[in-house]
Amino acid sequence: MKKIYYMITILTLMTLALTLPLSAMEYQHKLEVKDMQFSWAIEKDLIHVQLSAKTTGWVGIGFDPEKAMQGANIIIGAVKDGTFKIEDHYGDRKRGHSNDEKLGGKNDVINPFGTEKEGITTISFTLPLNTGDKYDKPINPEGTSLVMLAYGAGKDSFRNRHPYRTVWEVNYSTGENKKIK
Ligand code: HEM
Repeated sequence: MKKIYYMITILTLMTLALTLPLSAMEYQHKLEVKDMQFSWAIEKDLIHVQLSAKTTGWVGIGFDPEKAMQGANIIIGAVKDGTFKIEDHYGDRKRGHSNDEKLGGKNDVINPFGTEKEGITTISFTLPLNTGDKYDKPINPEGTSLVMLAYGAGKDSFRNRHPYRTVWEVNYSTGENKKIK
């Protein structure tokens, strides 16, 4: 009998763990910039990301930019009329970016989740550190890398420019960080 109770408890706990929203997961590190937060956790060959900003527009992150936005693996998400959308983009020019799928690559975002509450948009997602996609770059969990954070305003269009953008140097394993721009 005891064994059955034990099994039921284990099964209940497993079901609960699977149904917990990703936003409830523990992130290892957090970067707080003006009205915006970037939290992340490295788990084996994955990075779990949460972005939150004081905006009803989009929030975005760009891994490893080269010149302005060029060369960055950009993930951009927004909640419009209660519907969440997220896209995997690539900085194919200094002052712009295109959807990986339009460029001939693929969308590598796993477990996307997004909310907009009281003027704050929060998105979370997981990415393989190395997607193998031509329009992404391997994310280096050791050493330092550049990361861009930005958010849009008002309209949810992914074409709408950012009132705020910043560039940081981050070590994804230790959480050490330094503002670059
Ligand atoms: C949504 C459409 C977007 C448009 C139309 C756009 C447009 C531009 C333009 C015109 C510039 C150069 C002028 C300036 O420095 O403000 C710029 C710079 C920049 N953008 Fe975007 N951007 C977009 C999305 C993004 C996203 C999603 C990110 C990051 C997640 C981002 C990050 C940056 C950063 C960090 C810079 C400054 C780069 C530097 O000076 O080194 N942008 N963007």
